[in-house]
Amino acid sequence: MTKAVEEEKKKMMEGEEVIPLLTPYNMGKFNLSHRIVLAPLTRTRSYNFVAQPHAALYYSQRTTNGGFLIGEASGISDTAQGYPNTPGIWIKEQVEAWKPIVEAVHKKGGIFFCQLWHAGRVSNYGYQPNGQPPISSTDKALEKEGSSSKYPPPRRLTPDEISDVVNDFKMAANNAIEAGFDGVEIHGANGYLLDQFLKDKVNDREDAYGGTIENRCRFPLEVVKAVADEIGAEKVGVRLSPFADYCGCGDSNPQALGIYMAKSLSQLGILYCHVIEPRMQTMFDKDETNVSLMPMRKAFDGTFIVAGGYDRSDGNNVLENDGADLVAYGRLFLANPDLPRRFELDAELNKADKSTFYTSDPVVGYTDYPFLENAS
Ligand SMILES: Cc1cc2nc3c(=O)[nH]c(=O)nc-3n(C[C@H](O)[C@H](O)[C@H](O)COP(=O)(O)O)c2cc1C
Repeated sequence: MTKAVEEEKKKMMEGEEVIPLLTPYNMGKFNLSHRIVLAPLTRTRSYNFVAQPHAALYYSQRTTNGGFLIGEASGISDTAQGYPNTPGIWIKEQVEAWKPIVEAVHKKGGIFFCQLWHAGRVSNYGYQPNGQPPISSTDKALEKEGSSSKYPPPRRLTPDEISDVVNDFKMAANNAIEAGFDGVEIHGANGYLLDQFLKDKVNDREDAYGGTIENRCRFPLEVVKAVADEIGAEKVGVRLSPFADYCGCGDSNPQALGIYMAKSLSQLGILYCHVIEPRMQTMFDKDETNVSLMPMRKAFDGTFIVAGGYDRSDGNNVLENDGADLVAYGRLFLANPDLPRRFELDAELNKADKSTFYTSDPVVGYTDYPFLENAS
């Protein structure tokens, strides 16, 4: 049990109710007032790959003084995109567009990280410069049921080109700091480019970037090291989903892969490791499983964040059992801008409307989820 939770327990023995999710936590130099994190959520409202003014309202609605927010996946280069209207952070116009959004979060006392992302093969010619094929660890196309023509065969990166992508991540991290973000989260999860190197069901390389776990982790770790050297390890987090197989990205030994990554990230001294629960076998459904993230948590010395299917009760439980330091909430935070307040009061929650997750309206399904009335 962490010290803050212990102190809260003491309070409980003195008759005060304790809500572990609402206990403070020091994440490196960031003094968080509670442990409820906004998970990164792509909202496809960034027209022409440029974050829009309406995002300032969306993020500030979800900001509390001392709360930690992770921004939506933001493309690191002109080969990184794979969905409509997702933001980028590789050119000046995009950096400038993020500034007022970050400022709005800071004004309310929030701590805001930018998630840096490359889609890899989860893309198509239409998103690529000069209509070229998307890039990946492999030249095997992603086959999604009923959508085989949507994802063309990618082009396998050469080792020289891998160094270029490492550099793109580094530049994007610099841009994020220039935009005012407090740090960056490197997106190594959910079947995108870094995950396409990590997982042996996709990575079929025979060079130094394929084969053994050590080789498959090489490129993601090169990215992390380059970014940490550039902006400071204390401003870098990494998101992983070793147990998931989204976008065809599964692994034959996720436990070993996860532990190897957690240990290596620990050696690089980064701020946090953010991991998606093994129970999230598909992106949105919770399965029963006995597999635990505890071995990864133990292998990593910094802040450990868990995500995936959490509600108030199991969020409190995972903290009480020392399974995590912080809990990231996706759909519940999307639908409840005042989630920390609602958890404090154990109030009823708005339901997330799936049909507007990825629409492009600047208000509907975005900034129009109601706050609790008269609860401030
Ligand atoms: C609309 C939507 C967009 C998402 N976009 C991202 C993203 O940009 N980056 C990412 O790492 N995960 C993304 N996710 C996954 C969430 O961060 C989270 O892991 C997932 O929703 C499970 O957590 P939950 O049960 O609390 O919603 C997205 C999820 C949803 C629902």
